[in-house]
Amino acid sequence: MGDWVNIEVRDSGAGIPPEVLPRVFAPFFTTKPAGVGTGLGLSICKDIVSGMGGTIGVESTVGLGTRFVVRLPSAIAPGAGKAASIVPLGAAGPRPRVLVVDDDAQVATSLARMLRLHFEVLTAQSGRAALELLASEPAIDALVSDVMMPDGNGLELQRALGGTRPELARRVVFVTGAASDGEVRASLERTGQPWLEKPVSSAALLALLTELVAGVSAGSTAST
Ligand SMILES: Nc1ncnc2c1ncn2[C@@H]1O[C@H](COP(=O)(O)OP(=O)(O)O)[C@@H](O)[C@H]1O
Ligand SMILES: [Mg+2]
Repeated sequence: MGDWVNIEVRDSGAGIPPEVLPRVFAPFFTTKPAGVGTGLGLSICKDIVSGMGGTIGVESTVGLGTRFVVRLPSAIAPGAGKAASIVPLGAAGPRPRVLVVDDDAQVATSLARMLRLHFEVLTAQSGRAALELLASEPAIDALVSDVMMPDGNGLELQRALGGTRPELARRVVFVTGAASDGEVRASLERTGQPWLEKPVSSAALLALLTELVAGVSAGSTAST
């Protein structure tokens, strides 16, 4: 008919037992050990596909492998009015603005790429540059910040925001390559903010940011 696009992704892995299968799309459901699985990969896939008016299904045989089928409405539907049912991501209104802070331009670009479907992304290359940018661009909803940076590290940046923009200080996700350093890890834990180890999983980052931005906008309408 041409109204729908079917995308099939198959593997020859371990397969999913029948008692687990109905739960794989549930947020935070994982069979992986704590600290390994987030349980968010498939939940985010489902949200994205549903947001486009599509469906995602799974079939699996233990020992043989797993098959996911994504079904999306075609953008060029022959039937009149069919295309109107497609809701492009981010078309529902202005996207929240996220500032990505990393001294490694390549990392900043790759983080920005992960986020740009859902957020408007700005970048800065140090804690100091971030504070300067925030002074001229106050309309930032959340930050994703590296920790170790030569010119104003991420922890200092978050602490500085605590004094000037406390609501924004609670919307910082740290990303770090130094989580194996006990002191860095302890400092991160003390901030009370979520952090992710590099290389960052885009699903985990999106989930954390979405939660932070939604939590704050639902909990407080007075602050800007
Ligand atoms: N291709 C697959 N083969 C076998 N099991 C899978 C597959 N994809 C997902 N699963 C199962 O679904 C669970 C949830 O997946 P997901 O939402 O991506 O979270 P995570 O990968 O963090 O556990 C996994 O823990 C695993 O048990
Ligand atoms: Mg996964």
